[in-house]
Amino acid sequence: MTNDKKDNFIPALSFDFLTSLYDPVVALTTREKEFKRELVRQIDLRPMRRILDLACGTATVTIALKQSCPQAEVFGLDGDAKILHRARQKIEKSNAKIALSVGLSNEMPYPDNYFDTVVSSLFFHHLTPDSKRKTLAEIRRVLKAGGTLHVADWGKPANLLMKVASLPVQWLDGATTKDSYQEKLPELMAEAGFKGIVETAAFDTVFGTIRLH
Ligand SMILES: C[S@@+](CC[C@H](N)C(=O)[O-])C[C@H]1O[C@@H](n2cnc3c(N)ncnc32)[C@H](O)[C@@H]1O
Repeated sequence: MTNDKKDNFIPALSFDFLTSLYDPVVALTTREKEFKRELVRQIDLRPMRRILDLACGTATVTIALKQSCPQAEVFGLDGDAKILHRARQKIEKSNAKIALSVGLSNEMPYPDNYFDTVVSSLFFHHLTPDSKRKTLAEIRRVLKAGGTLHVADWGKPANLLMKVASLPVQWLDGATTKDSYQEKLPELMAEAGFKGIVETAAFDTVFGTIRLH
């Protein structure tokens, strides 16, 4: 991996050797079922839409999207070939038809104006402010006019307890999480030209507050 790529990529649990623990850790600590169900519920899954799960990891959301809207073409992109191997195993078990690709969020392997919806869960906190900007510009490029972006990620802690709870993630994922916990993402979305940015739900968890936009 080049230095530029390293700057734009942190594995799911920060270290490669922890990737195999990703699903159980997330299930136990993030109220995963609740917040991912809500993320998918909020998307207008009309027939024949093309949907991207950006940084799909082990494809939990990707599979839920396909199951909620079988007519849609569902794509998953992730920078980590190893985690996509786990995603493929889960997809096979679910019998879903999903197109997975390895790639980075700031140079996606898709044409302009391709997707109706881009979804991303627990991802933006992996990116430096500069990579967040590049990724948001890239999302705008691949989204059709009038397309929508749905993000679930760590956000401003809802209270003092959530602030303390968020410290391990800040320690584990490092400096990139700082602006996420400072709730900078909506500002960056506006800067990238997104309109109608709204927070739609918040979930207090063992590691801080997850916010949906
Ligand atoms: C915490 S995991 C979230 C996975 C999944 N979306 C979920 O909600 O369970 C973050 C994912 O982002 C991926 N990732 C990190 N940086 C990336 C980048 N620049 N481009 C694409 N994927 C990236 C990691 O490989 C990892 O699978």
